[in-house]
Amino acid sequence: MRTAVFRRAHFNAAHRLHNAYWNDEKNKQIFGPCNNPNYHGHNYEIEVKVTGEVDPQTGFVINLDELKQHIKREVEDHLDHKNLNLDVPEFKTLNPTAENIVRVIWERLRVKLEDKYDLSVRLFETPRNYVEYPAD
Ligand code: NI
Repeated sequence: MRTAVFRRAHFNAAHRLHNAYWNDEKNKQIFGPCNNPNYHGHNYEIEVKVTGEVDPQTGFVINLDELKQHIKREVEDHLDHKNLNLDVPEFKTLNPTAENIVRVIWERLRVKLEDKYDLSVRLFETPRNYVEYPAD
């Protein structure tokens, strides 16, 4: 049986949702307050789930300190206190929605983990709105 290990982390970031192909009215209609031209912040929470076999020698699925370091480097150092649209290369041409942010986080962590692990990430944009990638 495989076991899932979870680690939570947090970052603050600013963003603006905008589609340059639409006029201001349509952008405001679709994206609401997240279209504010002067940006706005969110307190993002993430939950990282790593699934694998328990190593009989360590009793661990994954060394949590190692996972913590990957999250620090790939998520917190990359996104915390940043303007996602202006400061983060992945969002130069990609709308920083929760759906797109969680995929970027997943891709950055996926390459750091051995293939034997399954990885999924939840991103909470507010306490009530969150996304998961990949979906079950
Ligand atoms: Ni927003």
